[in-house]
Amino acid sequence: MLATTKWTGKTLELLDQTQLPLVKEYVVCTNYRDVQDAIRSMKVRGAPAIGVSAAYGMVLAAYECETCADSIDMFLECLDNAASYLISARPTAVNLEWAVNRMLDKAREIGDLAKIPPALAELAQEIENEDLEVCMRIGKHGAELLPSSATVLTHCNAGSLATAGYGTALGVVRAAIEAGKEIEVYADETRPFLQGARLTAFELAEDNIPVTLITDNMAAYVMSQGIIDCVIVGADRIAANGDVANKIGTYGLAVLAREHDIPFYVAAPRSTFDFGIQSGREIVIEERDENEVAEIFGQRIAPEGIRIFNPAFDVTPHRYVTAIITEQGVIHSPCAESLRKSMAF
Ligand code: MRU
Repeated sequence: MLATTKWTGKTLELLDQTQLPLVKEYVVCTNYRDVQDAIRSMKVRGAPAIGVSAAYGMVLAAYECETCADSIDMFLECLDNAASYLISARPTAVNLEWAVNRMLDKAREIGDLAKIPPALAELAQEIENEDLEVCMRIGKHGAELLPSSATVLTHCNAGSLATAGYGTALGVVRAAIEAGKEIEVYADETRPFLQGARLTAFELAEDNIPVTLITDNMAAYVMSQGIIDCVIVGADRIAANGDVANKIGTYGLAVLAREHDIPFYVAAPRSTFDFGIQSGREIVIEERDENEVAEIFGQRIAPEGIRIFNPAFDVTPHRYVTAIITEQGVIHSPCAESLRKSMAF
């Protein structure tokens, strides 16, 4: 699979996901502002992948701050500003602030101006490597939940392209196939940004994993036909009570899955949990440009002058979630108590 991010030592190259699957091109980020722009415009997207990208953005910021700061205090102030700017790119995925804060903490801990930029470069690489390992562990735990032959419905893209590789939801699919199970995937196209059609279908096809593309409004029908054995999605932020923010449309799928008695699984790393918030009601839902809804590939499809609403995520109440699959294991019937016990927070 194509790498989502490539760190060259001086620049960050990001696979431009707005152009996939037709054009496979990397954009080169030479400073943290380029990285912020790539995250905001969704050239790179998916909670873990934006965390990794922002970590490298902090490395670029550290090299830049080093050239203009006379003291460690000035340097840290400069780095703090870059951190806030990177975090402002997208509000919902907690992995973004998690990664940036990890970089900031490291910089403060070192305290020696000259040593900070190379140490941050090392840490960003560590965050990237860790993410790949974590995805593989999520995959292993999740694969055990699947029967020997299954059709999985997924939404958006929680695959290799959304992570440092392997994926969370699609990592479960990959691991199950590696364990000898017969798995096929139904992918929702995921309006308005079409991550399912453009990215999930692309990466599964590249890996020769059987995939069938449907439009979002076909999900109820395919479930009613007995085609789907389980739903597996990723997450952008999980509250302390197990409520899950993920791509808009996820909540609807969870309700449909309950109606059809189909297990609804969420695959997510520990870095996606936000134990600072008690429930999903506290999650800030990003609202994006109305043109993402009004246009398809730059072509207006809706009348001019109408009101348009474009929330990028929704929150699935934890009562609809059969289990959350993490790198530490599977949490069945997630709720405040089961999460506290399993995640020891
Ligand atoms: O807007 P996106 O494409 O960044 O949304 C991505 C999702 O909702 C994913 O499901 C989530 O980030 C998990 S990716 C492993």
